[in-house]
Amino acid sequence: MIRTRTEGSIAYIELARPEKKNAFTAQMYADLAAALAAADKDRAVRALLLHGAPDCFSSGNDVADFLKRKPGGASPAIALFDVLPNVSKAVVAAVGGPAVGIGSTLLLHCDLVYAADNARFQLPFVPLGIVPEFGSTYLLPLLAGYQRAAELLLLGQPFTAQKAYEVGIVTAVVDKNELMEKARQAALALAALPGESIRLTKRLLKKRHGAALGETIAEETKTFTERLDSPEAKEAMAAFLEKRKPDFSRF
Ligand code: COA
Repeated sequence: MIRTRTEGSIAYIELARPEKKNAFTAQMYADLAAALAAADKDRAVRALLLHGAPDCFSSGNDVADFLKRKPGGASPAIALFDVLPNVSKAVVAAVGGPAVGIGSTLLLHCDLVYAADNARFQLPFVPLGIVPEFGSTYLLPLLAGYQRAAELLLLGQPFTAQKAYEVGIVTAVVDKNELMEKARQAALALAALPGESIRLTKRLLKKRHGAALGETIAEETKTFTERLDSPEAKEAMAAFLEKRKPDFSRF
């Protein structure tokens, strides 16, 4: 589930489904998109802070949901794809523990990203038999260069907060006990700045890539949803839920 609370001028938006490591259900995408849009509109809010639990940001899309979906169905993440890149106020993210799949790719659309030293990132789209999403095939090479992006997106192995910092996904790596406070201080600093300048600067920062990003997200989403119906993806996801190694040799 998604929990929102406003304290002072900061909207805290929390991913809170601890029993499944904050895996995203369809409802959570819709609720997160709605919470972001509401905070962006709320005149009392001057900055947003997105976080999970100290030991888990998010394990990505719910794998069981992927397997249950009807063939050819639309992606439930679309609501989030539409809203997060267009939030006009500053968005700070605080990441501790695993940030997998969309738990990593959504960070590419936040403004300041603080990662605890226990954060572990992973973009396991290829190992799951699918393809990357949320503009990551566009934004990651832009941030990291082609080869480093290809390593993270093709091998899909977990990587440390330090590596995420080196490739440009995170703003700073901080002690895990100081994560929320660092992120809160950054949100407060942003909240104290002129809001209209923040909005205009975000627009200028994002404008040049807006059309290309939109095109990439559309293309990725189409291929991603097609791949969800593939035997390779079904095997990879069933293997995860059955806690065994996948066997792709028969495809
Ligand atoms: N979808 C559905 N269930 C998930 C999940 C996901 N993305 N991630 C974790 N869970 C479930 C596990 O199946 C387990 O359920 P159970 O208690 O009923 O067996 C529970 O959450 C705890 O997960 P577990 O794997 O035991 O925790 P961990 O601390 O050892 O590892 C992760 C945490 C996030 C590293 C690991 O769960 C993981 O790699 N998750 C899958 C990530 C993934 O492939 N996401 C899709 C990206 S597109």
